[in-house]
Order: sequence, then structure tokens, then C-alpha cells
Amino acid sequence: MTTAPATSTWVSGPILGIETSCDETAASVLATDGAVLSNVITSQHDVHQRFGGIVPELASRAHIESIEAVSAEAMRQAGLAWTELTGIAVTQGPGLAGALLVGVSYAKALGYALNIPVVGVNHLEGHIASAWLKDPAFPLPSVVLVVSGGHTHLYYKQPDGHCRLLGATRDDAAGEAFDKGAQLLQLGYPGGPAIDRLARQGNPEAIAFPRSHLKKGSLDFSFSGLKTSLLYRLQVMSELSQVERLADLAASYQEAIVTILVEKAFAAVRSTGVHALAVVGGVSANSRLRTLLEQRAASESIYLSLPPLAYCTDNAAMIAAAGRHSLQAGFSGTLEIDAQASLSCS
Ligand code: KG4
Ligand code: ZN
Repeated sequence: MTTAPATSTWVSGPILGIETSCDETAASVLATDGAVLSNVITSQHDVHQRFGGIVPELASRAHIESIEAVSAEAMRQAGLAWTELTGIAVTQGPGLAGALLVGVSYAKALGYALNIPVVGVNHLEGHIASAWLKDPAFPLPSVVLVVSGGHTHLYYKQPDGHCRLLGATRDDAAGEAFDKGAQLLQLGYPGGPAIDRLARQGNPEAIAFPRSHLKKGSLDFSFSGLKTSLLYRLQVMSELSQVERLADLAASYQEAIVTILVEKAFAAVRSTGVHALAVVGGVSANSRLRTLLEQRAASESIYLSLPPLAYCTDNAAMIAAAGRHSLQAGFSGTLEIDAQASLSCS
């Protein structure tokens, strides 16, 4: 194993963030004050589209092909020379092992060559940090709902910045529910944006899909019954009626997911007594979810942080932001980090 460069005190300055946990190769540069100077994202959707989901081996190869160009482009857009970087933040996990390894290896090699600290970032902590990217004044304590392809986690973020888990999904993540629903509706991959687009032409009240509340007061989620309900519904419909009612199916299915997310997020706000809620992760890009959250936050006078769309789905600006917090907190960085596919965050 390589030894870490001597970097016990971080000299505040620009940081490069790198993200390769899944099917996006992303790099971003943050300025000394934390402002986003560049946010470059290359999606592999075309690579995986015909398989209806992500093929891990293809994801790793695609990351290898683009990591260098994406990072160089982030530096170019930021208008900085490599030697002006003072640190590198890279997603360490959770995610696809091979995909993570590409980012981590690249970050370590770069950190070694530039003799600057490299910090491993938990992908979920990256998503959480995205709530502050455009709104550094967003207050603590607050409730943060992380809704992505792999996670549906509700956190209480304490005044000292630490997160306490309030609830999580017991089966599918919200993004998974979107993706699997889209697969059943034959809308392709990734499913969330496809359902979001189609649902705009449908009636969200047309079909009554079940909403699983679990037991009273629970802040956990469950979406597997909803997916099964969609499957049964399709089995009793003729092909013609499936096509005719596709937009209604998408709108009603989406409504069942987003109403539960809104309900539980605000239940968490009420039970913790905070006045601020952030909703982050790929599913927070959903237009219906954003509308419902904004309406509810306005009516209950809750300070809502909904990151701009470019910071909702996977990106490296959020990774750089979380890494910057670690460096500011005195973490020195090390070249001894490894990719950790099942890294947890609670
Ligand atoms: O955060 P993210 O980019 O990657 C993970 O960390 O998983 O989230 C990806 C998930 C996918 O399940 C995708 O279908 C979903 O976010 N997603 C959406 C929308 N955009 C992305 N779900 C609903 N509506 C959207 N507009
Ligand atoms: Zn993510």
C-alpha cells in the first residue's frame, strides 16, 4: 500500500471532486470559498439502455474511458492549473465496486502526483451536502430526506452536523420503485425521468394504488407492494387499454410514491420540531415531488432546500463539498483509502 503524503494541515484552496459510484462519470471543482466553478457529468445511459439496467462491468469500462477527459474538462471550465488544487475528494462508496475503484484509483494517483490530500467521501454524505451547495445558509438542525436509486433515508441533521437516522426503506428505494415501475410500463431506463415526463399528461387520481404507511408513527418506507400492485393491474388490462391509459398509470403510480415521501418527510419535521427540510438525491429531481414539497413547505412555513436539478442526480460537486467539510474539520486525507461497495451511513 502507498503511504500518504505529509498533509496534516489542509491549506484552504480549490478542491477537485470525483464521482464514479454508478453510471455517471463526474468531476467538479470548488473554489476556495466553496463556490462551484465547474460541474462536468458524463452519463452512461446510452451504454446501459438496451439492457434495461446498469451492467456493472460495462460501467467500469466506461468510467475508465472518460475519467481523465471529464476531470480535465472540469479543470478547464474552472480556469485552474492542476497545481492550484489543494485537495481531492472522491466517492469511496457505497456503489458498484469496479466503478468506485476507477474513481478511487484515479484520485489517489492524482493526489500522489500533486502531493495533496485525498479524502474518501460517502456517497450519501455527498447527496446530503448538496442541500447546502446553492444555499449555504440552509439552517441546522434540519431533516434531510435522501431519495436515490439505492437509498430512501430520513435523517435528523444535528446542529453539530452529525446525522441520526430516523427512518429508511424496508425494501425498494424510491428510485428503484420508479425504475421497476418504468420497466413494467416498458418506458426504458432510467425509469424515473421517463415516468416523470409521461405523468404530466396523466391523471394522478385515475388509479388507486396502495400507499404503505407501515405502523402508525413509523418513519420507515415500503415500496415493494406498490410495484406488485402495478404488475397485477397490468395483468388484468388488455394491451390496448394499457396503451390508452399509460399516462394515467404513470401519473397514479408516481403519485403513490411521492405522496408517501412528502407525508413522511413532514411527519419527521413535526416529530423532531425542526423548521427546515432538505430533499436530495436523484428522485428529488421529480417535478411532481418538487411541486408537492414546495406547496406543503409554504403552507407550514418550513424552510425547504431542494437542490437545482444538476445537483440532484449523481454529480461530483456534492462530493467535493462533503470532502471540503472533512478537510475543514481537520481530516488530513490519505492515499490508503479503498473503494467500499457497501459503505453505510447512519
Ligand atoms: O442519486 P442518483 O442519481 O443515483 C443514486 O445514488 O442512486 O439517483 C438515481 C435515481 C434513479 O432511480 C432514477 O430513476 C431516479 O433517481 N430519478 C428520478 C428522476 N430523475 C432521476 N426519479 C423520479 N423522477 C425524476 N425526474
Ligand atoms: Zn446518488
